[in-house]
Amino acid sequence: MKEKIQSEFKNHFGGEGILYASAGRINLIGEHTDYNGGYVFPGAIDKVIMAAIRPNDTEKVRVFSIDINDYAEFGLNEEDAPKQQWARYIFGICRETIKRSGIVKGFDAVFAGNVPLGAGLSSSAALESCFAFALNDLFNGNTIDKFELARIGQSTEHNYCGVNCGIMDQFASVFGKKGNLMRLDCRSMEFEYFPFNPQGYKLVLVDSVVKHELVDSPYNKRRQSCERVAKRLDVETLRDATKEALDAAKSDISAEDYFRAKFVIEEKERVLDVCDALNRGDYETVGRLMYETHQGLSKDYEVSCEELDFLNDIAKECGVTGSRIMGGGFGGCTINLVADDKYDHFIAEAKKRFKEKYGHEPKIYDVVISDGARKVTE
Ligand code: GLA
Repeated sequence: MKEKIQSEFKNHFGGEGILYASAGRINLIGEHTDYNGGYVFPGAIDKVIMAAIRPNDTEKVRVFSIDINDYAEFGLNEEDAPKQQWARYIFGICRETIKRSGIVKGFDAVFAGNVPLGAGLSSSAALESCFAFALNDLFNGNTIDKFELARIGQSTEHNYCGVNCGIMDQFASVFGKKGNLMRLDCRSMEFEYFPFNPQGYKLVLVDSVVKHELVDSPYNKRRQSCERVAKRLDVETLRDATKEALDAAKSDISAEDYFRAKFVIEEKERVLDVCDALNRGDYETVGRLMYETHQGLSKDYEVSCEELDFLNDIAKECGVTGSRIMGGGFGGCTINLVADDKYDHFIAEAKKRFKEKYGHEPKIYDVVISDGARKVTE
């Protein structure tokens, strides 16, 4: 990938750029909890967006996307927003950096990636974090702290891309560390690294290849439901709500909002239970809680789809320890915790039966927990 990016950089702009990369993410458990002030448990993966970047001594950004095979050019003022959606991510990063009194000058860039798009692995957070990290390094002497880099990415989603997302994806992409998951408390923003190397098990993603598009999606509606219930319960976020309080208010809220909030309240506890189980090396409990999350996401939060429910059923039938839809939902992947001796059978069955039913095989990605945003030196 490095060679290809540098060679395209040379074609478009001459010479070489400095290479930066940032990663997609998985999340073991804690879905739709981030914007509710709850816990999440993500890690960065070995799939990245990589960019070659070089300041160009102008006030213009010129950028070429290898994967989309498209070029964009824009200035750094609010009215200069590019038309292409992909370029708006980069424009947003520039603008959000400037809004925080960071320095951004013109630059040339070429980028590419191997984070599958729309699979729920946060290719957009990888793109945002890669550029946020690079602008911090190139123009700001790395004085912007890492949480702010994550927030720059999140605000880009809110203000330039129409997704009212939480902080999990950008946090994971910026803070990711090889071999470690991270438990983040999205209320206090305190986090802990958790070395993750389950003996005798693998984490594997099964990608339904059903496209997931969060822009203008029911994602924002889920968030609104949660905020309505929090307001009704008189708490800042659902992090501070209890099942008892929710039940007591049941007659005042719509059935839909009730089930959304119920899922979030249960899910925040599951993250803590998974951490305890991991500390004991109790993977059976971890797996059972993953199935519970799937059930909640499918029935109460309603962000699953037929294909993902089907993959979850296959996992159960194959004796997979834990399986659930991962990320925002509406398509994408399941994440599966599989005992080594069940792995081959599960993958073969998932491919075969999914193809019989939907006409194509799912894609399989073994999870390798890796580093997040960085300068690529070697
Ligand atoms: C998307 C959002 C995240 C988070 C997840 C669901 O990935 O970007 O902030 O809400 O969905 O857990």
